[in-house]
Amino acid sequence: MTTQSGHPKPGDSVSENTGGGPLPNTVTIRGANALRGTVRTPGDKSISHRALLIAALAEGTSVIDGLSNGDDVARTRNAIAALGAEVTFGANGPVVVTGGRERLHASAKAIDCANSGTGMRLLAGVVAGLPGRTVLSGDSSLSVRPMDRIAEPLGLMGAPVNGRGEHCLPPITIDGGALRGIEWTPPVASAQIKSCVLFAGLAAAGETVVREAVATRAHTEEMLATAGADIRVEADGAGRVVRLRASRLEPHHFNVPGDPSQAAFWVVAACLVPGSAVTVEHVYAGPERIGFVAVLQAMGADVAVVPGPEGTADLVARFGGFLDATVVEASAIPSLDEVPVLAVAATTARGTTTFKDVAELRIKETDRLAALVDLVTALGARAEIVGDDLQIEGLGAPDRLAHTKSESRGDHRMAMAATVAALAGGAGDSVIAGFEVVATSYPGFLDDLHRLSGPAAPSAAIRDVGAHAVAPVTNRAPPTDPAQRVLIAIDGPAGSGKSTVSKLLAARLGLERLDTGAMYRAVAWAALERGIDPADGQAVAAIARNARLEIGWTDTRIDGVDVSTAIRTPEVSQAVSVVAAIPAVRYELVQRQRRWAVEHGGGVVEGRDIGTVVFPRADVKVFLTASASERTRRRRDEPPGGVARRDRIDSTRAASPLAKADDAHLLDTTGRNVEDVVEEVLTWI
Ligand code: DC
Repeated sequence: MTTQSGHPKPGDSVSENTGGGPLPNTVTIRGANALRGTVRTPGDKSISHRALLIAALAEGTSVIDGLSNGDDVARTRNAIAALGAEVTFGANGPVVVTGGRERLHASAKAIDCANSGTGMRLLAGVVAGLPGRTVLSGDSSLSVRPMDRIAEPLGLMGAPVNGRGEHCLPPITIDGGALRGIEWTPPVASAQIKSCVLFAGLAAAGETVVREAVATRAHTEEMLATAGADIRVEADGAGRVVRLRASRLEPHHFNVPGDPSQAAFWVVAACLVPGSAVTVEHVYAGPERIGFVAVLQAMGADVAVVPGPEGTADLVARFGGFLDATVVEASAIPSLDEVPVLAVAATTARGTTTFKDVAELRIKETDRLAALVDLVTALGARAEIVGDDLQIEGLGAPDRLAHTKSESRGDHRMAMAATVAALAGGAGDSVIAGFEVVATSYPGFLDDLHRLSGPAAPSAAIRDVGAHAVAPVTNRAPPTDPAQRVLIAIDGPAGSGKSTVSKLLAARLGLERLDTGAMYRAVAWAALERGIDPADGQAVAAIARNARLEIGWTDTRIDGVDVSTAIRTPEVSQAVSVVAAIPAVRYELVQRQRRWAVEHGGGVVEGRDIGTVVFPRADVKVFLTASASERTRRRRDEPPGGVARRDRIDSTRAASPLAKADDAHLLDTTGRNVEDVVEEVLTWI
């Protein structure tokens, strides 16, 4: 089929040429449009595959809500029907599966797993326990992926697996039947191999044991345990030991959360495109799956994990300045699924990022390692494979990425990573060919892109955030007593009355108070004290990250030194706006402010970005103002013009400028006494 590249409509970030399939073959992506809003990614693929297989094995009728609508999972759905499960589904409703050992049988017809390596490997484990021969086949990309890693343990369990060549390439035949348990240590960290052996173990005599040197995603163990399997999991250093015995599974109601690997595309895009603020809601938040968030945070990105129910979370990402290079250990993102999009982030970063031990990328949907080197090179940066590591020398800023034409090579993640690069690359158009493959995992990807880059209400994205439950680093739960959980955000320019009002308000309500300006001031003081240029982002961010900060009602200490008076000098007032404009400094202090609120169960927090960035869902937001002359009079300790200069820098900086949140109460304190003002605020609480 031939298609030609189309031309974007003005103001649109994407145009497409539909090549007749559900997604276009070729898309043109226009850069520089901020992404704003809330999005839900398709049901997690890994969980979806497993929900279908467990439902097929369970004795009775299971209901699956939120199943992935991608092609990979549809293949597994068809596969369990071919194996004898009864499967009913509608357009958007739940999938209902009636299964059980009595119903299941080897499939007379070959089962086509298309592009899905997960589908094939997991199915192989199920089929191994069914008497008779089943053939599993795949598309051209799956047909060159090695199946020897599952052939070996399944053979030892009593189900010979045969494929092409020494690596047992698909199509594979599996001669299932009576199995015996084995003790198995997969040669590489792989949840697919582990799960394959465990599915086979459900029908095996004796105990099946899988030892992992590095813990991989634990969906299979968790979901089998929920379905009543006789399974035990023990931690073992950085890894795990899983023990399983033949089990009868109970039917279940599965509620599949959003896929974090897909969420990574929106999270990274929001971190790279200026003005963006995106919430990806209700994603699965197991530690092996959201490691990419910590990688981005280490690069200085503004991303938070807001814990939700049942192991899910909302991921909140905003553009907060340019990123810095980092070192990514493979164990931080065991599946390596997020490497393509993190590689795009690395291409924009300052310095050289190393992805360690990623040779496994060579045998994904395409040789992702080679594909990434080509993509990074086409974007204008340098990438090199050194041993098993991928090194990317970043360009220093997103808008230095070249707009280019790239090809997915039949790999959905490469196509979506190229889309993120195109969005980040400033004004200009990029073309991505072979885009239709995105349907394997995210058929609604372009619809979601249209929605996020369309004329969304500017603050809609951040309004949905459960702000005072934010604990991005610790994931600690907030206090449960609701009376203690009031969070009041007070913002405003210098001299608007924030400190006086917030102190009295906190005292009246019996709450703690946090002066975030004192935090920025203490960091500025420490920089001056150590002879560090306040504009030196890396050095000042290191202070913000490492210093011990104690902010009391009247006292401020940094690394044990009482600086309560020293931080109010003209020198510090002069330096602080420069320090506060550094994204990495803001990132560090915002994390601390959120932790403070979690630890204190709310409180009164004053600053410049409290209602907009730090706690967008504070219970009450107040934005104080006062006339310029009154503010200058209140801050007469500052040199002439100092307040005006600080206001200008604070309001025009790129990173979290002083701004009133849409839902903040505006309160002019000119000529009013503090009791009066506090009375008024109390009426809003
Ligand atoms: O509290 P203060 O007005 O003295 O604040 C000192 C500086 O810190 C101010 O110029 C801006 C910066 N600041 C900020 O950028 N964000 C905050 N949340 C608090 C203060």
